[in-house]
Amino acid sequence: MNVADSERAATNLHNAGYAISDSTQSADVIIFNTCSVRARAAEKVFARIRDVRRFRNGRKPIIGVMGCVAQLEGENLLEDSTSIDFAIGTGALERIPSIVKEVLEGQGKALDLGERVESEASGVSASFRHSPYVAFVPIIEGCNKFCTYCIVPYSRGREKSRVAAEIVEEVSRLRGEGFREIHLIGQNVNSYRPRTDSGLESIEGATQFSKLLRVVAATGIERIKFTTSFPRDLHPDIVSAIDENENLCNWVHLPMQSGSNRVLRAMRRGYKVEDYIKRVEAIKSAKRRIALTSDIIVGFPGETVKEFDETINLVKYCRYDSLYIFKYSERPGTPAASLEDNISEQEKTARFLELEKVQKGIQRSVLEEYVGGEVRVLVEGKSAKTPLDMRGHSTCHKVVNFPGDISLAGQEVIVRITEAKVNSLYGGLVKGL
Ligand code: 5AD
Ligand code: SF4
Repeated sequence: MNVADSERAATNLHNAGYAISDSTQSADVIIFNTCSVRARAAEKVFARIRDVRRFRNGRKPIIGVMGCVAQLEGENLLEDSTSIDFAIGTGALERIPSIVKEVLEGQGKALDLGERVESEASGVSASFRHSPYVAFVPIIEGCNKFCTYCIVPYSRGREKSRVAAEIVEEVSRLRGEGFREIHLIGQNVNSYRPRTDSGLESIEGATQFSKLLRVVAATGIERIKFTTSFPRDLHPDIVSAIDENENLCNWVHLPMQSGSNRVLRAMRRGYKVEDYIKRVEAIKSAKRRIALTSDIIVGFPGETVKEFDETINLVKYCRYDSLYIFKYSERPGTPAASLEDNISEQEKTARFLELEKVQKGIQRSVLEEYVGGEVRVLVEGKSAKTPLDMRGHSTCHKVVNFPGDISLAGQEVIVRITEAKVNSLYGGLVKGL
């Protein structure tokens, strides 16, 4: 989501006549895109600003902050830091150029925490995408779930779905521009619920999101991934849509957060372990093997050792392809902040490491199952480790490296897997597609 926002900000500034620089030493304006899901986000922004100022060679660039920290703490940022000239909230990306202009014209510090205005054009130019082959397409912004620990509903506002016709048009355009893979993105993509049905009326499907998947698949773009899915809204028809369409990729990210019903209730996640398992069983019964990944929070206030063990057991049951583990960190202003954060940092770390060890074991056996088999890989560029290897992602969203040359970049190829690494697969090129 943050990468997608940076791409949008760069596009808006470019369209307004600004040149985008990749050097903080020569830029006249430096904008920090920020995330507040983790602790001490504002402090990290201040530290980064100090770094930039240290290398400014006597110049004084204009400094701005965008993203969640700007949305939540914009006014304080401007008051507390003489270095920050402007702050722009998550709904104001389309107005970045006019804010920058105000500041450049010497009108003093500027702040825009307003909401997005529907009529403001939104889009990303191909040249500002993070990859020439893979593009992010936001389909829903914000979140209405209000999990008790989470800041997102406050920093990104309520759920707002884009109309389907606009999404389909964007995907078709990306396909025409040579993109091979798109990621439909949002805090909870499967809660997709546009106010008007435009573009989905004649499409089959049990939910608006499974209809959207089918209509996006019909554009013919080679690979479609989507993230993040909310467990309660993971209707089995989503799995049916994947079964029916080869270009809907075999990967679902389904954050479980905890394996204890008491903790899930305290988190206000809106589902029980039994419901979560039903969703996982639907995913595991798909025609193609669907890779499953998840997020877990350890050390939520009051989490007992027994409850943590329930999480370990559920992780073992789910056999995730990969897992993001977070230590609970109190977010001021969220309902959970009124609970005593009574699990010590030491205990949170111990639980983190224990779960990580369990997951490493699972991951090794999941990845080893790929050895000897073939996967479809979109080649994205050279491997980070050696120029002799190319790197890409499989349809099941694994990083795959194999010997090859740069002429393969942007192509979809078949790779036979010869080795499972800790977090990736290694193999040899079989053929292009
Ligand atoms: N503390 C720890 N982890 C959190 N996440 C969200 N809020 C918090 C918090 N306060 C994690 C959740 C979510 C992921 C993006 O970040 O697991 O799924
Ligand atoms: Fe945060 Fe919960 Fe919304 Fe995810 S679903 S963004 S964890 S409030």
